[in-house]
Amino acid sequence: MNKSESTTITVSDEELKSLTDAIHKRHGIDFSCYEPKSLKRRVVRALHIFQFNSIHELWVKILRDHAFIYPFMDEISVGLTSMFRDPILWKRMRSLLNNELSEKKQLSVWHAGCSTGEEVYTMGIVLRESSFTNTCCAWATDISNQSIETARRGEYHMMKLNEYDQNYREFNPVSSLTKYYSEREDVATMDGSLIRHVKFEHHNVIRDSVSMKFDIIFCRNVMIYFDNNTKFKLFEKFYESLNPGGLFIIGFYDAILPLVDERKFMVLDLNAKIFQKI
Ligand SMILES: C[S@@+](CC[C@H](N)C(=O)[O-])C[C@H]1O[C@@H](n2cnc3c(N)ncnc32)[C@H](O)[C@@H]1O
Repeated sequence: MNKSESTTITVSDEELKSLTDAIHKRHGIDFSCYEPKSLKRRVVRALHIFQFNSIHELWVKILRDHAFIYPFMDEISVGLTSMFRDPILWKRMRSLLNNELSEKKQLSVWHAGCSTGEEVYTMGIVLRESSFTNTCCAWATDISNQSIETARRGEYHMMKLNEYDQNYREFNPVSSLTKYYSEREDVATMDGSLIRHVKFEHHNVIRDSVSMKFDIIFCRNVMIYFDNNTKFKLFEKFYESLNPGGLFIIGFYDAILPLVDERKFMVLDLNAKIFQKI
């Protein structure tokens, strides 16, 4: 039966396990940290997108075609994002840059799980519109190579930009995003000066090490996919990677408040989801 004639393909726990074990063995990607229900949903989604009739077909493809893991991971790691998502956060960030952070000689920022870069360009614009004029350097990372490539190019469809402009106007009602991009045939290319200070890199936040220290770490809407044990380990990693007093920022739907160790982080702004290293 062709997949288009079928209804939803089902995947059993055993099938999911044998697939993830095979991927782990061959590519070193460990899915045991992912929340199983949401992982299963995303594997089923990938089966439809790549037009496989069964999980077995996917399994064979992953074992035989070494390069297939990249587009597969791009689908599994769903990168929904937008510019100026959660304007409350960005208003608070502007205020922090104008006040508490203004004296910093050098500000270092990590965007962990930056997807296609919208969060990074947003921060670039917030920096530009704040009175912070000292040096800033940023590291923007994601497990999806395709997302990192898009982020680096900074090219987005104009339809998206029009949507982002509405978020932006909540942040700055007297301006418009148009001054930050050039438009050509429905494609907006973001002003390269917004990310001159940014290094984009492939990085698995769970597995790969971090050798730098940061003043601000964004990890928004990424941990949503991970189980509690992995979240605990990640908090530890973020704690270790922050300078004293550094800020840790999560997404509005990352329901992790009860998991955060209050001896390590204090809540700086609950509405904007900003924590501070103690
Ligand atoms: C929903 S997007 C969030 C993008 C951005 N932080 C935001 O909130 O707008 C989640 C991103 O996390 C990335 N991701 C998932 N697992 C990851 C991992 N283990 N290491 C690094 N990035 C990961 C995905 O590829 C995806 O781009």
